[in-house]
Amino acid sequence: MKSLRGWLSPLVYLSNNWISLVGVVVVTAATVTWMVFLPITLRGGLLHPYFGIVVYLLLPGIFVSGLVLIPVGIYWNRRRQKAKGSFPSTFPPLDPRSPELRKLAAFVMVTTFLNIIIASQFSYSAVRYMDTTAFCGQTCHVVMQPEFTAHQRSPHSHVECVNCHIGPGASWFVRSKFSGVGQLIAVFLNNYPRPIPVPVRNLRPARETCETCHWRQKFAEDRLRDIATYGEDEQNTLSHTVLMLHLGGGPSRTGIHGRHLGQGVTVRYYASDEKRQTIPYVEYTSAGTTTIFTSGNVKPAPSQLREMDCIDCHNRPTHIYQMPARAVDDAMLTGELSSSLPFVKKQAVVILKQSYATESDAVARIPAAFEDFYRNNYPKVYGQQRDDITRSGKALLTIFQHNIFPAMKVNWGTYPNNLGHTDFDGCFRCHDEQHAAQGGKTITQDCSACHNLLASDEKNPKILVDLGISPAAK
Ligand code: HEC
Ligand code: HEC
Ligand code: HEC
Ligand code: HEC
Ligand code: HEC
Repeated sequence: MKSLRGWLSPLVYLSNNWISLVGVVVVTAATVTWMVFLPITLRGGLLHPYFGIVVYLLLPGIFVSGLVLIPVGIYWNRRRQKAKGSFPSTFPPLDPRSPELRKLAAFVMVTTFLNIIIASQFSYSAVRYMDTTAFCGQTCHVVMQPEFTAHQRSPHSHVECVNCHIGPGASWFVRSKFSGVGQLIAVFLNNYPRPIPVPVRNLRPARETCETCHWRQKFAEDRLRDIATYGEDEQNTLSHTVLMLHLGGGPSRTGIHGRHLGQGVTVRYYASDEKRQTIPYVEYTSAGTTTIFTSGNVKPAPSQLREMDCIDCHNRPTHIYQMPARAVDDAMLTGELSSSLPFVKKQAVVILKQSYATESDAVARIPAAFEDFYRNNYPKVYGQQRDDITRSGKALLTIFQHNIFPAMKVNWGTYPNNLGHTDFDGCFRCHDEQHAAQGGKTITQDCSACHNLLASDEKNPKILVDLGISPAAK
């Protein structure tokens, strides 16, 4: 008790300095601010991203620095007084029975207890906050803008970034937090790559992310796809391509899913380029037999092989960037772009394909160019459909803003989509009849292996009529 008193009394004496007092004020202020927000944070309400930074990241920082200031002040005061020679050799005795000291002890105990609760709540909510879509997608606004924008419009818009990029389990969580620190530094130093390169290294295996929601055993057998396309003629003639995709599924080894991911099937491949677009070597194992297909003379080491999973076909499940013609078709189907304007399909694509240095450049030029086209070439239409033209010009700009991000150097086709074979090589990276096994068997390009082509660019396909899907309504 005696030694404790001998140790405590100089502390009490020394803490009476302006640095420590500022520390006390800062801690108190941070605590009070935190209490004001407590009702919102306890409800788990999502805040505006910048507000989130303040409450979850900045405030704890201020709180902790206030705590640190107190001992720093004590240390500084001690050095100062020693240097001046005014450091007293004895201190007024601290009497444990004195009411002042008891009050002080009680105060220190209560505040320490509160501080521990507050600090743990702070760090818990900071970690939780960093896992939200708002933090991932909006905090580093420019950097993540392309991915965030695409995510918001995708079938996975309600799936948080971390569900695919981190997934459940502690070890990936820690890994992601470590690599996240490096990324944050790169953002502050402004030396991150633009565009962000793909494939994402160390993306967690799909089995542990996608397959926590999508069950391999539950895939649909076949899927009808109606692809509507507008022509580049004056009437923007609408036509349909209808596919029946043989998705396959369940434990079977048939169809698109079953042939690559069915029970006992493993596909391993070697890509000779960064983006996995050139695949000269494929190893196919099914029911215990392995066949090797190669195009050219390559012999990769086992460590260079990648096991195929969902992401090798669905590499854009949520960050879906479209090509200009498809994006225009979709906007015309929904009516955002008026299909009653002459040559609207052709002209819209022409305008989208121009190069725009910045987003504001596009804002200034796209709607204007669209209006100019009709003012100059179709003055009569321009007079009659003025509102349609203005609205469509704005819709065209929106297409640009959903797909092109000059600040991140994301342009048409920057991120290839591997699902299909028309816009990018996709399936034909392997299914090109050029990959041969010993004996000459190739990976097939037989059109009906993957889908039946029920109609090809037809105006009014009988199959849709028979199925009761009215193509005219579109
Ligand atoms: C449904 C799963 C899923 C969700 C949800 C998701 N991502 Fe992704 N993301 C992927 C996949 C798969 C890739 C890998 C693409 C590749 O390697 O080719 C990717 C790639 C990326 C890339 C690399 C650049 C690019 O465009 O491919 C960034 C950056 C990214 N995601 C950020 C985000 C952010 C931010 C969010 C939340 C707003 C998010 N992701 C939500 C699956 C997802
Ligand atoms: C947290 C759950 C969850 C995770 C993780 C998830 N998905 Fe999904 N996914 C969904 C839901 C829900 C839908 C259905 C959305 C709808 O019908 O609007 C969906 C839809 C899809 C579709 C159909 C899209 C369409 O156009 O019909 C595909 C393909 C898909 N997911 C692939 C993936 C892949 C690949 C991954 C991993 C990179 C993944 N998903 C991860 C929940 C998830
Ligand atoms: C060999 C390429 C390939 C692989 C590997 C693959 N898929 Fe698919 N998947 C497709 C194709 C092609 C479609 C049809 C796309 C369409 O309809 O536009 C599809 C469709 C889907 C759909 C939509 C089905 C429906 O009925 O709406 C889901 C969900 C899906 N895949 C999830 C997955 C998951 C999860 C994995 C990994 C376990 C996976 N896929 C692996 C090619 C693949
Ligand atoms: C990494 C290479 C690779 C990619 C990419 C790939 N496949 Fe395959 N696929 C194979 C191999 C290997 C086989 C088995 C060939 C054999 O045994 O004859 C196969 C078989 C198939 C089969 C069965 C063919 C048959 O004759 O019954 C279908 C269907 C199929 N793939 C669809 C697709 C689709 C759709 C895509 C794109 C979304 C795709 N594959 C992408 C390698 C690939
Ligand atoms: C390895 C599997 C596979 C083979 C082989 C294949 N396709 Fe496809 N095809 C697909 C997939 C997957 C899609 C994309 C479906 C989607 O967009 O949902 C597609 C889409 C298409 C489309 C629609 C294009 C569009 O505008 O979106 C056409 C047309 C087409 N295929 C024609 C063919 C023809 C012709 C052949 C034979 C030379 C062929 N395909 C061989 C898998 C295949």
